[in-house]
Amino acid sequence: MRQLTPVDPHDSPAGRLAPVVPRLAGIAYGGDYNPEQWPAEVWREDVALMREAGVNLVSVGIFAWAMLEPAPGRYDFGWLDRVLELLDRAGIGVDLGTPTAAPPPWFLHRNPQARPVTRDGRVLGGGARQSFCPSSPAYADAAAAITERLARRYAGHPALMLWHAHNEYGGANAFCYCPVSAAAFRQWLRARYGTLEALNEAWGTAFWSQRYGDWAEIEPPVTAPTAVNPAQELDFYRFSADAHLANFRRERDILHRLSPGTPVTTNFMLANCKNIDYWRWAGELDLISNDHYLRAERADNHIELAMCADLTRSVAGGRPWLLLEHSTGAVNWQPRNIAKRPGELRRNSLAHLARGADGIMFFQWRASRSGAEKFHSAMLPHGGTGTRIWRDVVDLGATVRGLADLRGSRVVADAAVLWDWESWWALELDWRPSVDVTFRERVEAYYERLWRAHLTVDFAHPAASLDAYPLVIAPSLYLTTPAAAQNLRRYVAGGGTLVVSYFSGIVDGNDAVHPGGYPGALRELLGLSVEEFLPLRAGETVRLNGSAPDGGATADVWAERVVPAGAAVEWSYLDGPAAGLPAVTRHRYGRGTAWYVSTRLSGTDLDGVLARAYADAGVVPPAGVPDAVELVRRRGQGVEYLIAINHGECDARLPGAGLEMTTGTTVAGHLVVPAGEVRVLRTP
Ligand code: GAL
Repeated sequence: MRQLTPVDPHDSPAGRLAPVVPRLAGIAYGGDYNPEQWPAEVWREDVALMREAGVNLVSVGIFAWAMLEPAPGRYDFGWLDRVLELLDRAGIGVDLGTPTAAPPPWFLHRNPQARPVTRDGRVLGGGARQSFCPSSPAYADAAAAITERLARRYAGHPALMLWHAHNEYGGANAFCYCPVSAAAFRQWLRARYGTLEALNEAWGTAFWSQRYGDWAEIEPPVTAPTAVNPAQELDFYRFSADAHLANFRRERDILHRLSPGTPVTTNFMLANCKNIDYWRWAGELDLISNDHYLRAERADNHIELAMCADLTRSVAGGRPWLLLEHSTGAVNWQPRNIAKRPGELRRNSLAHLARGADGIMFFQWRASRSGAEKFHSAMLPHGGTGTRIWRDVVDLGATVRGLADLRGSRVVADAAVLWDWESWWALELDWRPSVDVTFRERVEAYYERLWRAHLTVDFAHPAASLDAYPLVIAPSLYLTTPAAAQNLRRYVAGGGTLVVSYFSGIVDGNDAVHPGGYPGALRELLGLSVEEFLPLRAGETVRLNGSAPDGGATADVWAERVVPAGAAVEWSYLDGPAAGLPAVTRHRYGRGTAWYVSTRLSGTDLDGVLARAYADAGVVPPAGVPDAVELVRRRGQGVEYLIAINHGECDARLPGAGLEMTTGTTVAGHLVVPAGEVRVLRTP
C-alpha cells in the first residue's frame, strides 16, 4: 500500500490559494449581462436588482460585436461606456467579453471565404453565431482589431475585473474543411512531421494505397466513400483544437499587452466538449472558467455535474476556478427542457462551490425577449421579481456572500481518474470492435461509484504525476502513449493501486496498435495479455462468479480472452464467449497493485471490484452517510469546510461539530442536513 502524504498536490505554504479574481472581494456571483438587448431605461432597473440579488460580477458584451462595430472600422462604444459606469457606481465588477464568437453580418458579407464548411462540403451561413472558419486570416484580423479597440478603451476602467475572451471556443465551429483550413492543415502537418516520409510512416499510409508523394495531395478528413485513415482523423482533431488555441492566444496577448494586470479567461465546456484538449489549454489562461448545463432529463444529473466540476478543478491544477455559466432553471436547447425543481438551483450552485469554484455565475441575467434563447431561464425571468426563481436567486446571493470565507481553500481528493481527450477522439473513430464502447460511458460509470461511496475525485492526464493519490482509475485509456504507460508503471511500482478497464493500452498516439499483443502498453503492468476481443451482442449479458451476496455479477457489452502472465484471477466468466476464462485480475507489481476489469460491470457489481481496490489502496469510504448525500471537503489555513448536499427526500444526520455557515448555528456532535438542503460546516 502506498504511504501517502495526504495533501493535495497543489499545497501552498500560505495555506490558501490566490483569489480567482484578485480585485473582487468574496465569491463571484452574477451572470452574462446583455444590456444591448434592452432599452437604456431597463439598465437602471437591472443594476438596482443586481444589488438586491447580491450580484458582484457580470459578463458584458460577449455577443455585442455588431453593436460595438456596426460597420467595419466604425465603432460605437458610447452605450458600453454608460453601462460600465452604471455598474461601477453600483459596485458591480465587470468580466468584459471580446465579442469575437459572433462576427457581425458585414463580416461574412465581405468575407464569403471565411464561412465554415462542413465535412460533407456544405458552406454554412450567418444569422446565427460562431459562423466563421477558425483558420481564416480575415477573421483573425477582424477579431484582433475589435479586441484591441476594447482593450485600449477599457484597460484600467475601475469596473474591469476580468477579460472574457470569446465564448466557448470550438462550441459550434470546432472543425472547418474549407480550402483555407485545408492549406492550414497541411502547414500544421509540415511543422509536426518535417518530411512526407515521417507523415507516411506515422499515418501508416502503406494501407489502402494512401501513400503521399506531395504535401498538396493531403486533404482534411472530408466525407469519403468509406472510413478515413484514423491517424489523419486524429491529427485533424489536434490541428483544429490548435487553430482555436491560436485564436485565443492572439486575443489574450493583445489583452495582456494593452491591459496588463487584468486576468484573462475564457469559458470552457468541461467535460462536455470532446473537441478541445483542455489539458493543453490549461497553462494558457490566467484562470480557468467553465460552463455547465445539466442533462436535465437524467435523474442523477447532479453526479454528472459533480464530475464536470471535478474535471474543471483538475484542469485548473487544483486552484480555484470560476463557474461562468449555468442555469437557474430550464435551458432551451435540449429535446425536453426540464425545469429545475425547488432547491435544485441551490444544490447545483453550491455543488460547484464545494468542488472548488470561487464564483457562481449564470447564463443569463435577464431573460431575452427575442432571439433563439428567449425560452432559456435567467436570474431575472420574464415573469420578473414575483417569481420563485427570482426569490431563489436572491436567497442564493445571500448564501454565497456568507460563504466568502471558503475563497482560496482547496478541495481534498481521495483518488484520481485518468482522462485524456486524445484517447476519447481515437476510441470513437470508425470501425472499432464495438459501437457500444465509448469514452464517457466508462468514465461516468466509475465516477458514479466513487461519488456514491462519498469519495472525491481529481482527474489527471495519464502522463501527469500521480504520486499524491493512493488510488488511480483508468476507465477508458484506449490510446496510451509510451510515456503514459511508463508513468503508470512507475506509479504502481512505487506503491500505488491502479484499476484499468477493458480496451485500454491498445494503440499509440497515431492509433497504431502497440506491438506484441494486447494491451501492448499495459501488458507487463497488468501481468496478462488479451488474445482476442469478444464483444457481446446488443442486450447480451454474461455472468461472473463475483463478490455480490448471491456470489455472482452480471456484465454486458464486452468480454475478452484474457491470458494471465503473473496476475491472479479474482473473477471469472461463467458463460458467454469467454466462459471459464478470467474476467477480473489483480497483479502485484513492485510495491503496488494493478487491477484489470475485462468486461462492463455496472452499479453494485462494479462496487465489488472497487471495494477490493479501496482495500489495496487504504482508501476508506466514509461510513454511515446516506446514499443521496454528497460530501466534499475544502481545506484552508487551519480550517476545514465540510459541504454536505442532501439530494434525497429524508433529512440526514452526520457526525460533526463546528460552525454551520449557511444558518450561522453552532453544531455539536451532529450536523442535520434537511432533505434537499445544503450545509457547510466549518471546523478548525
Ligand atoms: C452556452 C453559451 C451561452 C448560452 C448558453 C445557453 O453554451 O455560452 O451563450 O447560449 O449556452 O445554455
